Amino acid sequence: MAPLTDTFGRVHRDLRIAVTDRCNFRCQYCMPVEGMKWMPREGLLTFEEIARIARLLVQRYDIDSIRLTGGEPTVRAHLPTLVRKLSALGVDLSMTTNAATLRLVAHDLHEAGLQRLNISLDSLRQDRFIELTRRDDLDRVLDGIDAALEVGFEPVKINVVLMRGINDDEIVDFARFGRDKGVTVRFIEFMPLDADEQWGPERVVPLAEVVERINDVFPIEAVPRTSAPATRYRYGDGAGEVGVIATVTEKFCDSCDRIRLTADGQFRNCLFAVTDYNLRDALRAGATDDELAEILEGAVSDKWAGHGIDTVHFIRPKRNMSQIGG
Ligand code: GTP
Ligand code: 5AD
Ligand code: SF4
Repeated sequence: MAPLTDTFGRVHRDLRIAVTDRCNFRCQYCMPVEGMKWMPREGLLTFEEIARIARLLVQRYDIDSIRLTGGEPTVRAHLPTLVRKLSALGVDLSMTTNAATLRLVAHDLHEAGLQRLNISLDSLRQDRFIELTRRDDLDRVLDGIDAALEVGFEPVKINVVLMRGINDDEIVDFARFGRDKGVTVRFIEFMPLDADEQWGPERVVPLAEVVERINDVFPIEAVPRTSAPATRYRYGDGAGEVGVIATVTEKFCDSCDRIRLTADGQFRNCLFAVTDYNLRDALRAGATDDELAEILEGAVSDKWAGHGIDTVHFIRPKRNMSQIGG
């Protein structure tokens, strides 16, 4: 079994599966307020189709980590059924969610074999939360975080996308929140994937600034790096960890090991890919595993070196984050 390797020698082991493009929020940086056209239901991969592709990737190419994303994955009905199928593959299985309805499903997901949860939350202030998500759900999200901890998810991480002038005054509040709750907060540099095209380099809050602001209040020290995107720091007083995902200022494309499957069955070799490889139609036309494998290997070998956000060559993907899968 040869792993999925691209022309730069990067080996791919991490599969991100979007299970829906729908979401119960309308985050400004991800979706337009109106006019979102959801994928038609028959266009979505069924759980059986998702499991078939995942099984092929795990068994033939040694993919060892699967993350469920969306849209908002909990919006997809009967999600624990899919989790049970994927958990049988014996991989590290995780999900990224906005947690608004997590209280209702946390137990069933955990019991079905989901191991880890990352929760997106960009403000701890109610008025700002409403403005950012266009939903009055902060209390439900906070309760969802408690539910995740209660049913035993370990670790629980909180993803905070920082946007200059919007929520960059909450860095220390979030650090304190993470310490108090026993969760790892990760600050993420804002990337140009927002539907309303409000991104500009001046909106990015760089890693160095985040570290300095936290360190002024709660001293931190760096934890040695792995291939994972987050740069990690531990609090000097033993109160856990905090991280920064420096997608823009210190991009991690050189060690990228990710591949993606969209909710409508398109394979993508990068978050910023401009090409879809249509696994769904191949699958529905009766493709064999070898035929699917040929598409997968071709798609990975076409992968670019990286996103190039900082270059004049950067091409913004036509799909927004909710349609690609976060
Ligand atoms: P773990 O480290 O396994 O917990 O997962 P993760 O941090 O990779 O997953 P998560 O879904 O929490 O993603 C965190 C952030 O990383 C996202 O908000 C994105 O901003 C960023 N991100 C995720 N995948 C990619 C990727 O493939 N490329 C780039 N450039 N950024 C990514
Ligand atoms: N830049 C950075 N991160 C983003 N996310 C969504 N849109 C963006 C963006 N434009 C994050 C979400 C979630 C994860 C899946 O992706 O907040 O934590
Ligand atoms: Fe990998 Fe593309 Fe993300 Fe870079 S931008 S880390 S190459 S998926």
